[in-house]
Amino acid sequence: MSPASLLVLLLLASSRLAAAATAQVFAPPSKGPLVQTANYTSFSNSTLNDRKAVPGKAFNRIIQIWLENTDFATAASTPIFGSLAEQGLLLTNYNGISLPWGGDFFGLHDDSMYHIPSNISCVVDLLEDKGISWATYQENMPTDAFYSIGATASNYASPGSAPYPYYMRKHNPLVIYDSVSQDAERVKRIRTFNDFANDVVNGSLPQWNFVTPNMVNDAHDTTIDFAASFLEYWLLPLLTDPRVNNEETLIVVTFDEAETFTIQNTVFAIALGGAIPINLRGTTDNTLYTHYSLLSTVQANWGLKNLGRQDTNATVSNVFSFVAEKTGYKNVHVDTPPQFNLTGIFPGPLNSIAFVPFAAPNLKARGAGGGSVLTRPGLNTKLTASSLPPPVNLNAVNATSPWQMSPETTSAKNIIPCANALCP
Ligand SMILES: *[C@@H]1O[C@H](CO)[C@@H](O)[C@H](O)[C@H]1NC(C)=O
Ligand SMILES: *[C@@H]1O[C@H](CO)[C@@H](O)[C@H](O)[C@H]1NC(C)=O
Ligand SMILES: *[C@@H]1O[C@H](CO)[C@@H](O)[C@H](O)[C@H]1NC(C)=O
Ligand SMILES: *[C@@H]1O[C@H](CO)[C@@H](O)[C@H](O)[C@H]1NC(C)=O
Ligand SMILES: *[C@@H]1O[C@H](CO)[C@@H](O)[C@H](O)[C@H]1NC(C)=O
Ligand SMILES: *[C@@H]1O[C@H](CO)[C@@H](O)[C@H](O)[C@H]1NC(C)=O
Ligand SMILES: *[C@@H]1O[C@H](CO)[C@@H](O)[C@H](O)[C@H]1NC(C)=O
Repeated sequence: MSPASLLVLLLLASSRLAAAATAQVFAPPSKGPLVQTANYTSFSNSTLNDRKAVPGKAFNRIIQIWLENTDFATAASTPIFGSLAEQGLLLTNYNGISLPWGGDFFGLHDDSMYHIPSNISCVVDLLEDKGISWATYQENMPTDAFYSIGATASNYASPGSAPYPYYMRKHNPLVIYDSVSQDAERVKRIRTFNDFANDVVNGSLPQWNFVTPNMVNDAHDTTIDFAASFLEYWLLPLLTDPRVNNEETLIVVTFDEAETFTIQNTVFAIALGGAIPINLRGTTDNTLYTHYSLLSTVQANWGLKNLGRQDTNATVSNVFSFVAEKTGYKNVHVDTPPQFNLTGIFPGPLNSIAFVPFAAPNLKARGAGGGSVLTRPGLNTKLTASSLPPPVNLNAVNATSPWQMSPETTSAKNIIPCANALCP
């Protein structure tokens, strides 16, 4: 590791310690969610131009907002989540399973810097296959398509204190896919919160949106009350703005995972927005869901193809029931839900301790959208899950997963392999 990258890590670590030592107080980064601010580093240079909407059976737009590391009960006891639940459908049996966007989390279990080869499909392939526009909006990401492991910005809540590590790549799941980051058109859809403001004002908010608040606003470095203040600042005004929320909009507010590992990984999840049938508002739904349900629900809604992975595993991918009803999809009842709170090591290509190569998806899988499995060029379909060798511990031979990068990597075109177990 170079002295420069060591310094970056030390700075990140020391500002985290500072964060833990003094309770942070929410401060609005701007005058409102649709007003651009210098607190976000860069101003928007362009808008998307997504005016064509592909009609879905239950909604025409989905906005997913992920907060961090909070138990269901903690969120449920915070007033704003109670008041949001009154306006929407509270999903009481929704579970975290790490990142779902490729239909699997591929064994990922640490915060190192990874990428996923371009022959592995993800949700973006499914959406584009049907012409559905998409974007991810990352608060405090310094520029569009930013590739590095993280970024600090001046601490807008506490001027005079050290720059704060507001942006982390680990919360920007789509940039990890080479099929996105190495595609000049797709990568433009990895956008900032200033772009969000610009896109909304220009009437070009896409149909599928994934929103990541910064490391303080998403409760990662702070508390649920801090995240609640963020939602009051950012989400509440948008709920009454027809450019964002109309009768065809589904908004999902949830958490990546629970905080306590010794209980089931159930997270608070609310389905909100004009697309929620009036008679369901203020009610609860106890169907077993996981983050894979976000894939299957979108597949059912727009009749998409599937990824042939856990997005097609009926046990973990029930479709939101109000969408299942409109699309004719039959959810399964699971008597004994799996334990989603496993803290152990899961073998996978993004795991150096129990490494197995990427497997091809199950090409015979059927998903909630009814279509076939979508594959990308370069896929070796002979590499089925059952044909792969047993997991190996690459760290034991001072190696890492070939998909782990040096944290000094700053561009998709310049991937620096992480050469040994001591990297970073
Ligand atoms: C940045 O955020 C701080 C804290 O809320 C606020 O006082 C300041 O006005 C903001 N600056 C801009 C340019 O919006
Ligand atoms: C808004 O979108 C239109 C195309 O629909 C484009 O011509 C215009 O430049 C956009 N506005 C901004 C501020 O980028
Ligand atoms: C806009 O373009 C400038 C110059 O290329 C760049 O520095 C800035 O970061 C861009 N803004 C965004 C939001 O990417
Ligand atoms: C997961 O939660 C269950 C209770 O739902 C508990 O019995 C189990 O020990 C937990 N697993 C871990 C690894 O903490
Ligand atoms: C489906 O999910 C369950 C629960 O996680 C798991 O036990 C099972 O192995 C999965 N099936 C496949 C084919 O991956
Ligand atoms: C995917 O592509 C990578 C890089 O070219 C290759 O090493 C790997 O074997 C491929 N895996 C599958 C499942 O096609
Ligand atoms: C791994 O690296 C460490 C530290 O550089 C060294 O002491 C050890 O001998 C290496 N082990 C192998 C198997 O190469």
